[in-house]
Amino acid sequence: MRKSRVNQHKNNKLIIISSSIIMFLVVIVVGIYAYKDTLFPSTAGEQSVDTPPAVAQPNEMEENGEKPTTPQEERPEVIEVDAGGYRIETPEVIEPTYVDGILIANKKHPLPKDFNPGESPEARAAFEQMAMAAKEVGLELVAFSGFRSYDYQTTLYTNYVNRDGKEAADRYSARPGYSEHQTGLAFDIGENSRQDLWLTAEFGETPAGKWLVDNAHKYGFILRFPEGKEDVTGFMYESWHFRYLGVETAAKVKKSGLTLEEYLGVE
Ligand code: DAL
Ligand code: ZN
Repeated sequence: MRKSRVNQHKNNKLIIISSSIIMFLVVIVVGIYAYKDTLFPSTAGEQSVDTPPAVAQPNEMEENGEKPTTPQEERPEVIEVDAGGYRIETPEVIEPTYVDGILIANKKHPLPKDFNPGESPEARAAFEQMAMAAKEVGLELVAFSGFRSYDYQTTLYTNYVNRDGKEAADRYSARPGYSEHQTGLAFDIGENSRQDLWLTAEFGETPAGKWLVDNAHKYGFILRFPEGKEDVTGFMYESWHFRYLGVETAAKVKKSGLTLEEYLGVE
């Protein structure tokens, strides 16, 4: 009787041990199955569902004759613009934009409302020198528009919109805050005796207009809105609008044949 109880006890122990071993093995097998992709990554060219497809590296792509794409974080910021070419989202606090010490004011880089430096005496002196040089070859230049405050630009732009409509005005008149005239460094130039050609493309065909294109850089000015560059500068050809940059920079920009935006590498 005692012996059979001992046997019974032994049997129970055996059953418990073997059940535990079986349970342990089941857990191991289920675990291995669940994590099989992690534990045994495929080497046969198969991809698990959540493995991203292999991406060719830039050097491989170049070898394949493909153009490498820049990683997302290195891509230049793309500025969203409205129908007039003006940036849609402007920073809450607008600061003037300087690139390599050069102030840029355009449809993407506005000036604060209270940016009110007045006409630059340096730019004015350079204009007077240029006008004297032009006079020596029989051309009487006049700067008929120079510094414009934010408020004055508001009046001008509003008048143009009322006259020609917004779409047309946006091609030749800057909205307030976006005019280079607000920097005090821009002049609209014409010939004293040909007021009828002020603000016309035809002025660019006259000896005075041509003289300016050929010589303005020697006095520190560049033609700011050249023909065929509206997609870059945001404004149609303005044979009369010159921007003062200083002799050194103006000469470099002129030599490059680029617009100011292209030269500085800004939108
Ligand atoms: N006409 C130029 C673009 C201006 O209004 O500033
Ligand atoms: Zn102008």
